[in-house]
Amino acid sequence: MVELKSGLAATTIPLVQNGKPNAILAFSQEISTIPDVIKLTVGEPDFNTPEHIKQAGIESIANNESHYGPSNGTVALRENAATFLNSHYGTQYDADEIIATIGVTEAIYVTFKTILNAGDEVIIPTPNFPLYAGAITFVGGKVVNVNTTATDFKLTPDQLRETLTTHPNAKALVITSPGNPTGVIYSKSELEALVAVIRETNLFVVSDEIYSELVFDQNHVSLAALLPEQTILFNGVSKSHAMTGYRIGIIAAPADLINQLAIVHQLIVTAPTNAAVAAATEAFGAGADDAATTGMRVEYQRRRDALLAAVKTAGLTYAYPGGAFYLWFKAPADGLQDWDLVRDIAQKAKVGLIPGLAFGEDGRGWLRASYATRYEDVVEAGQRLVNYFGGQDEN
Ligand SMILES: Cc1ncc(COP(=O)(O)O)c(C=O)c1O
Repeated sequence: MVELKSGLAATTIPLVQNGKPNAILAFSQEISTIPDVIKLTVGEPDFNTPEHIKQAGIESIANNESHYGPSNGTVALRENAATFLNSHYGTQYDADEIIATIGVTEAIYVTFKTILNAGDEVIIPTPNFPLYAGAITFVGGKVVNVNTTATDFKLTPDQLRETLTTHPNAKALVITSPGNPTGVIYSKSELEALVAVIRETNLFVVSDEIYSELVFDQNHVSLAALLPEQTILFNGVSKSHAMTGYRIGIIAAPADLINQLAIVHQLIVTAPTNAAVAAATEAFGAGADDAATTGMRVEYQRRRDALLAAVKTAGLTYAYPGGAFYLWFKAPADGLQDWDLVRDIAQKAKVGLIPGLAFGEDGRGWLRASYATRYEDVVEAGQRLVNYFGGQDEN
């Protein structure tokens, strides 16, 4: 055990002194001790990475690819990523307009560090993935939350116009579709209506499309196809190819901007890891990977349908889960709420859920279930939730 010199205590930045560890992971750990608990807590695929993708990583190591790789990722990876985006979503990217990052997590930090000066504002429709607000605050920017609870968890053109009236100098807007924690997706016409407003501004649009391959009832529409000149697009292999541990994400943006984002990326990480780059190159390549992703999507949809049926049977209000692997539903207004409620559900119903509060104040009163777990467990968890909530009135 090594003790920090007393003169160095409390000299670090306030953000880390006052910060708390990730609440979702801590809670998920906490309820692991409950016998027979089914955890619908953590947001990561339960599938194994497809074999041909693993093999590409293994070959990279066997071939002694042990030196620093190109900072933005290899040409092969960037070409395959560009082809993937262009063929799936109708974007027009070249390999030079792509950076391979250490997951979308790094892409988020790199982007806000590049575009925000101290005090610059970023509009975030809420509830939303907490890392955006964390990164914005970390780099000295300011978060402008827009509560979308009353509009099916989607930002509307009216809300955006209104927000721009009170925050005319906002620098950027974040759109996440499919959404985490809500699983909600924007349709083409909804995005087009937003684009009509955004086009009149000088806002950067940070479009996080990490769940783009996990869309069930309609095709995914990329903001980067509708408004490429203002969009900073995030995608990656974490969710689509069950590769969260490989840590490869991508940023796609106009070349002028990519060159500036690349400077921050290089300062932070030098380059992504070679074996992970080789595996992601294979994942983005055409062919067998499509079949693997399709298989996962079909299975996620089966689970979604089962869980959605249970939440309907329990008479609970929900957001329509068009994509990702989350179901977002409302706890009955009477009775326990938020962290007290999920602790009670874990103890009595033996189902692990995440309270909406983990996704910001605007998530209060709601619950997130991740169905990235075995179908049989999802069905059983759904039945347990019906038993727990059964008899409650819809609210
Ligand atoms: C909306 C969203 N963006 C980004 C990430 C992080 O992705 P990565 O694992 O590629 O860093 C997640 C992970 O849960 C997410 O839900």
